[in-house]
Amino acid sequence: MDAVNAPGALEGLMNEARRAAQNSYSPYSRFRVGAALLLTNGNIVTGTNVENASYGLTICAERSALVRAVAEFGPEIRIEAVAVANLNGAASSPCGACRQTLAEFAEPDAMVVFPAADGVNALPISALLPLSFGKKDLG
Ligand code: THU
Repeated sequence: MDAVNAPGALEGLMNEARRAAQNSYSPYSRFRVGAALLLTNGNIVTGTNVENASYGLTICAERSALVRAVAEFGPEIRIEAVAVANLNGAASSPCGACRQTLAEFAEPDAMVVFPAADGVNALPISALLPLSFGKKDLG
């Protein structure tokens, strides 16, 4: 059975994302976000948002997890599932930059779980980023 299909796997991943959000550095927005990536090698890598006084240099939780995963496990990593959480009780789906960055390392059917108005939402990355530009387009 795939790790992502194990009972409670996505819930466990969401808990990891929530835990990571506690380390958020977000003195400007006070929006504390965490992300957890389940890799096909079975490892889970987390990240949190790290803001900057030069606002545009802020990195989101999803991308901080992604760069950490590559740094730790190398360029061949593949993402099986992603969980995003925030400690603000807000609905929030990954921003466009994060969708594009995650898609580089994920199969189209990789699930992304994120806070919705009425609980959590789970969608494949291909639904979050339709008609995506990728490696395939570069020939
Ligand atoms: N943020 C994330 O880390 N991930 C998301 O999915 C949405 C937005 C961060 C960026 C910034 O630090 C704060 O949330 C407000 O936009």
